[in-house]
Amino acid sequence: MSNLPTLKIGKHTPKYPIIQGGMGVKISGSRLAGTVAARGGIGTIASVGLACDHPMYNGRNYFKINEIAVAESVKAARDIAPGGVLAVNCMVALTDYDRHVRSACEAGVDIIVSGAGLPMKLPEYTKNFSDVAIVPIVSSVKAADLIVRKWSKLYDRLPDAIVVETPLYAGGHLGATKMEHVTDPAFSLEVVVPELVKYLDDTVKADIPVVAAGGIWNGSDMKKVFELGARGVQMGTRFACTVEGDASDRFKQAYIDATEDDVVVIMSPVGIPGRALRNPFVEKYMAGYVDSKPCMAACLSHCSYLRDRSSFCIAQALVDSYTGDWESGLFFVGSNVVKCTKMESVEEIFCDLIG
Ligand SMILES: Cc1cc2nc3c(=O)[nH]c(=O)nc-3n(C[C@H](O)[C@H](O)[C@H](O)COP(=O)(O)O)c2cc1C
Repeated sequence: MSNLPTLKIGKHTPKYPIIQGGMGVKISGSRLAGTVAARGGIGTIASVGLACDHPMYNGRNYFKINEIAVAESVKAARDIAPGGVLAVNCMVALTDYDRHVRSACEAGVDIIVSGAGLPMKLPEYTKNFSDVAIVPIVSSVKAADLIVRKWSKLYDRLPDAIVVETPLYAGGHLGATKMEHVTDPAFSLEVVVPELVKYLDDTVKADIPVVAAGGIWNGSDMKKVFELGARGVQMGTRFACTVEGDASDRFKQAYIDATEDDVVVIMSPVGIPGRALRNPFVEKYMAGYVDSKPCMAACLSHCSYLRDRSSFCIAQALVDSYTGDWESGLFFVGSNVVKCTKMESVEEIFCDLIG
């Protein structure tokens, strides 16, 4: 599509207003993020679980190695895209969230994007890095308002952009606390994006770009959200199944094979719903049989597996999907996974989106 809006996030303006969303564990590592950034979008590394196949990881030093792996991934992506715009996605729900943020900043990332919880302390963790833009992910104006008030009051800081992710279609953990919110039209982009734009213009009175995420696949989807007032899009699922995607080929094949009936929403060990593929592992979990590998590293501040064994070790299940273990992995997807019919290159996606 032509006439694309300009997406300026803090001091960073990519050529195109397209963010490849952070996808953990290692679905978006340095290769995917670097390639997207080199092509003119914003490439995002997901910081969660990067230690899992690091040569120095020995099963006991997860947190230390993860910190190192975050920095190494930023540097590796920067080598691919020296002048590009790079982000790291850090999940608030992680025990060592602050360490991920600091490590990414020290390694020279441009933007920190944070969801899976409200990133109330993000300005504190980034305060020594004035070039680093900070971007929360929300699913409602209420959540954005809480962040804006807290950041203004405690840190005299506003978000550099806000990603609105709709639980209706998005992949991975969904910005909904309850199952019934996942299908609630009140959380659709059609409702939340214009409301948020109005709130930022009229109440906050600040020029903060809104980025729409969830269910965006092509130029026509982009056009629709730009008409709602968004100035950028964040896309996950389509980028996960690319040649440059960091996951195994078996992970990508699962995307290509998926049909509508295979896409389900489950309650994740984090305590929020997540969209995933119905594979043998998820089938068993949905039937009430919890089959978990041992806890990998106590990586979550609230984990129902550690609390009472009512769920499973999500870190291990996501690592298993990254490596392509169809039987025991948790394969996160957005509802658009049904549109994946082949592995594309990042170049092909950009040509299709930009025309
Ligand atoms: C496999 C997968 C893993 C994801 N992991 C994360 C994550 O670690 N952190 C996060 O904030 N969002 C995560 N997401 C959400 C994406 O960043 C993106 O916002 C979302 O997928 C957009 O919707 P779409 O998939 O319909 O394009 C994940 C999505 C997928 C498909």
